[in-house]
Amino acid sequence: MLLICIASVLVCSAAEFSLVVPESSVSAQLGSSVVLPCSLSPPLNSKTFEVQWYKNEDSKKTVMLHKAENVQEIRRDARYKDRVSLIGELEKGNISLELNNFTAADEGEYVCHAQSISWYEKASVNLVVKALGSPVVVSSADAGILTSHVLGVNVTCTSGGWSPKPTLTWRDSAGRELPNTHTHYRTDSEGLVSVSSWLLVSPSQSDWISCTVGLNHQEVRESRIVPLRGFWKAFILTLVVSLIIIIIIFTILLILFKKAKAAVNSHESLQSESVPLNTTENTKRVSLTLDPSTAAKCLKVSRDGKSVSYKTLNSKSDCKFPDVVSKEKFGSGQHYWEVMIWDKTSRAQPKSSWCVGVTQKPHSETQKPHSEKVLRALCYEEGSGLYANTHDFSKISTECNMYTLGLHLDCERRKLTFYNADKPFKHDLYTFNTIPQGTYYAFLSPGVKDDHPIRILNQD
Ligand SMILES: *[C@@H]1O[C@H](CO)[C@@H](O)[C@H](O)[C@H]1NC(C)=O
Ligand SMILES: *[C@@H]1O[C@H](CO)[C@@H](O)[C@H](O)[C@H]1NC(C)=O
Ligand SMILES: *[C@@H]1O[C@H](CO)[C@@H](O)[C@H](O)[C@H]1NC(C)=O
Repeated sequence: MLLICIASVLVCSAAEFSLVVPESSVSAQLGSSVVLPCSLSPPLNSKTFEVQWYKNEDSKKTVMLHKAENVQEIRRDARYKDRVSLIGELEKGNISLELNNFTAADEGEYVCHAQSISWYEKASVNLVVKALGSPVVVSSADAGILTSHVLGVNVTCTSGGWSPKPTLTWRDSAGRELPNTHTHYRTDSEGLVSVSSWLLVSPSQSDWISCTVGLNHQEVRESRIVPLRGFWKAFILTLVVSLIIIIIIFTILLILFKKAKAAVNSHESLQSESVPLNTTENTKRVSLTLDPSTAAKCLKVSRDGKSVSYKTLNSKSDCKFPDVVSKEKFGSGQHYWEVMIWDKTSRAQPKSSWCVGVTQKPHSETQKPHSEKVLRALCYEEGSGLYANTHDFSKISTECNMYTLGLHLDCERRKLTFYNADKPFKHDLYTFNTIPQGTYYAFLSPGVKDDHPIRILNQD
């Protein structure tokens, strides 16, 4: 009896061992293989031991049972079939379990149990899902005065969907770690952890600030931000927006300008192109003579064929501007002539109406009314002012007591320009652009309001 007792004490003390497992949880990504470490200390040969792994929540079903030197299938949880194995060297007391194709349902506490004839021990290993969280979002906001005179920026860093709980690290551009005293964790219903942290920095402190969230040094996510103050952000934004607006306005103006130019070219318009007369070198100053046979009946052409006036005593005209045209006609080249509207040497009042220009058909050849003739003229009526005959009463200028009117006909560029020839630089009054092609005669009408003549000036 005593012997048995002594023998059993000896056996008991000889078989004594403990189990070594990791202190912290073991984590693995879903779908991967994971090892749950467990080993005997001292490293006894555990081949003949009963080695069992089970999930703590359900100890009646085993994950793995190794007994009598074989893996046993009794009470085996079907979910672990073909997915688990003892991968360590049992002879050296390594009874670690490998689990393949890790699923979310596998998470939990696993118990490793080893039993010799005289001794048994158990220890648990916590297995958790390792999930890499969402990309790190870093944003900044003005934070007012940080310290005296230093305006701070509140930089915030957030990332979610982590498992297990990640660590968050702030760093400056020199790689120095910044204190993360304002870091908060939150666990959602699925057990995933989100982290957020904020930090006050001064913009001059660092070129950029980085925020790193990770499980260890391998599984990390990082983001950087340049801590710009709102003022500079707004300034840069304003600058960019202004530039875009300026470019848009410039483009619109350019388009409008081109359209306006096209309009001028296709229609006659009040806009005149300032072409200094003297620069047109091949302009011929022409000497004109009026053709009395083309004169309206109410008009009187002087004997030298240079001036024309309205015969007030005689007639009643049915039109405002009875006319006479020149003997000369122009179909090519450039021609310039002057018409005296108001003889300043005479005591006469300025003329109350007149009309001077060019026309394609002499009056006598066609009896069509004025409106159907090709006529480009500058007309004047007291009260209405100067106007182009194609633009009824659109006033050009109120200036009416002009003495001499210059006309420049450019047959090649199909332009007719009127100048105030009194002025030393003969400033232009009006230009007809794209006048119809053809042969033109000088057109003069003294109007019907007074009997003062208008005169073609001799060219010298
Ligand atoms: C047990 O075996 C596993 C797999 O071979 C190995 O990773 C682990 O380091 C071993 N443990 C000890 C304590 O030797
Ligand atoms: C892992 O498990 C999933 C379902 O959970 C299954 O579709 C897939 O085939 C498994 N892979 C392996 C290698 O067992
Ligand atoms: C910085 O911003 C976070 C939120 O993004 C806020 O909770 C915190 O109070 C702010 N800190 C300061 C000093 O404004």
